[in-house]
Amino acid sequence: MDTAPTNTSPAGPVTAVIVVAAGSGQRLGYGMPKAKVPLGGDTILTHALRGVAAAGIAQQICVAIPPGDTELHALCDAFARDLKAEHLRAPAPGGGQPPVVTIIDGGSSRAESVRAALAALLPATEAVLVHDAARALAPEAVFHRVAHALAAGAQAVIPVIPVVDTVKTVEPSTGDGAAIAPEIVTGTAARETLRAVQTPQGFDLATLRRAHEAAAAFDAGQAAAVTDDAMLVELLGVPVHAVRGASQSLKITTPLDLIIAEGLLEGPLGARWVEG
Ligand code: C5P
Repeated sequence: MDTAPTNTSPAGPVTAVIVVAAGSGQRLGYGMPKAKVPLGGDTILTHALRGVAAAGIAQQICVAIPPGDTELHALCDAFARDLKAEHLRAPAPGGGQPPVVTIIDGGSSRAESVRAALAALLPATEAVLVHDAARALAPEAVFHRVAHALAAGAQAVIPVIPVVDTVKTVEPSTGDGAAIAPEIVTGTAARETLRAVQTPQGFDLATLRRAHEAAAAFDAGQAAAVTDDAMLVELLGVPVHAVRGASQSLKITTPLDLIIAEGLLEGPLGARWVEG
């Protein structure tokens, strides 16, 4: 393994990284959970876990996988063994320990997977990063920017990138308009104020727990509208800080995304952790 698996920021809060990998991956069309889909000779989840380990910010890595998926369970076990073996081969100079790897059953939604992981964190945990396994190539520099903002006092921090497209709001067409096109434009958002949001998203643990406790009471419609953790924290009125994300952190969702991710690994950028 070519990564530095030990925690390299002992001065920061005790930190866990939750990796949510319990999705079905239907949009990718591989007929298997996305975490298992091959990428650059490994799986999407392997790349995501290596990225977390390489960042060296976590005392615990908690992975949510589809319930009963023995293959992914074995993959996570092997990853944990590799971390320990690497630590024995090359102990960290400051005496840091490799992160504890915890494997849990995910839930039926992303938010439920996060809630299940929050219940499995080590008691000493003070800060938590929540990361989509689907953002398998997130550079370690992004983890560092998020962790530094937390260490500087942020209760919530997200990585973002500028939006290059013009973004409009629409609603279904009615009346004569419906014969012309299915939707009609209702407005144009001011692009300079828009940001595309990525993971890992970082939180003070108590704040994220409070946000998810509030969300547990949502009705089905409200629950379906929850697409990230930061929006739950926003609902509490807690400021959410934004740091620079990276284009390599793309969420592998469609076959085109997978082609781009393969290209990032094989192309002129070469190494896995190039900052962009
Ligand atoms: O479905 P979506 O693309 O929003 O999923 C984002 C991340 O959340 C993925 O890494 C996926 O594996 C994870 N997820 C999960 N549990 C679910 C649904 C999604 O861990 N029930």
